[in-house]
Amino acid sequence: MKRFGLKRIGAAGGAVLMATLALTACSSSGGKAGGNGKITMGFAQVGAESGWRTANTKSIQQSAKDAGITLKFSDAQGKQENQIKAIRSYIQQKVDVIAFSPVVETGWDAVLQEAKRAKIPVILTDRAVKVSDPSLYETFLGSDFVKEGRLVGEWLVQNASTADVNGDGNINVVQIEGTTGSAPAIDRKTGFENAIKADPKIKVIASQTGDFTRDGGKQVMETFLKTQKKIDVLFAHNDDEGLGALEAIKAAGLTPGKDIKIMTIDAVHDGLTALSKGEFNFVAECSPLLGPQLMDLAKQVVKGKKVPKRVVTVETTFTQESATKALPTRKY
Ligand code: AHR
Repeated sequence: MKRFGLKRIGAAGGAVLMATLALTACSSSGGKAGGNGKITMGFAQVGAESGWRTANTKSIQQSAKDAGITLKFSDAQGKQENQIKAIRSYIQQKVDVIAFSPVVETGWDAVLQEAKRAKIPVILTDRAVKVSDPSLYETFLGSDFVKEGRLVGEWLVQNASTADVNGDGNINVVQIEGTTGSAPAIDRKTGFENAIKADPKIKVIASQTGDFTRDGGKQVMETFLKTQKKIDVLFAHNDDEGLGALEAIKAAGLTPGKDIKIMTIDAVHDGLTALSKGEFNFVAECSPLLGPQLMDLAKQVVKGKKVPKRVVTVETTFTQESATKALPTRKY
């Protein structure tokens, strides 16, 4: 699916005070701005909603150090208006390059035009945006979220014979979606729902956002367990939501992985542990280790070099067996 150059109307901002914006500047001399040749990057992170995000933040911070790039880092606490304020602040500070992982897909045109006018290149990291002008960013580094959803759906189609837990001839799926309006939530749902069309027995009977958090996953699963009679399968858009849902399933006296089959995305340590124990049944990987590639791309765009418009992360999938093998050396 093409994610660039799609029609978009900008609409962000708001007067919310960014009390949460923790700009942690290591030094503010700036690269070209400070004239010492050292690159300064402003990075606007989504927040700390999941194990994936924590690993992603560590990867970016460590890689900036390793690459000798001065990093100004902000945590938007899941709010687009905070990210926009952070980006504006980086523009004012004349950083050499701005990178960010957008909370949601839309509403970025205005602030990205400001960055363009200030001649500061922008790198999208992890998540895409929909903007009217694709030249508003240099490149997008991250996963193929549609593919991740598709891989989960294809696994379910291939394993349909074991997924009819209630034995009534239908495979009833409940879906816990990621943050509403975010690229991974939109794309994973699309990829998954397209893939399961291959088997008319598989139906999504309920779908709600869990905001990519454990608490969200737990609350949504509690609701599903109360409102849906015959749940065979859960598809959670990330491990944290799946792990929260596990608690709700156990509290309802059911055995996760057996009474309800569970598929998730990310493959962080806790997710793979649940898979290895048979509490999850399938996990598609989404790698958070974007730091080294990001720093490399940043060096190139600051030098004015042309980089590919899209850099896709290489990823795999896990079953119980492969998760057990991978766990001892898993870095996050
Ligand atoms: O954008 C990547 C997604 O965001 C990860 O799957 C999820 O865990 C995170 O919060």
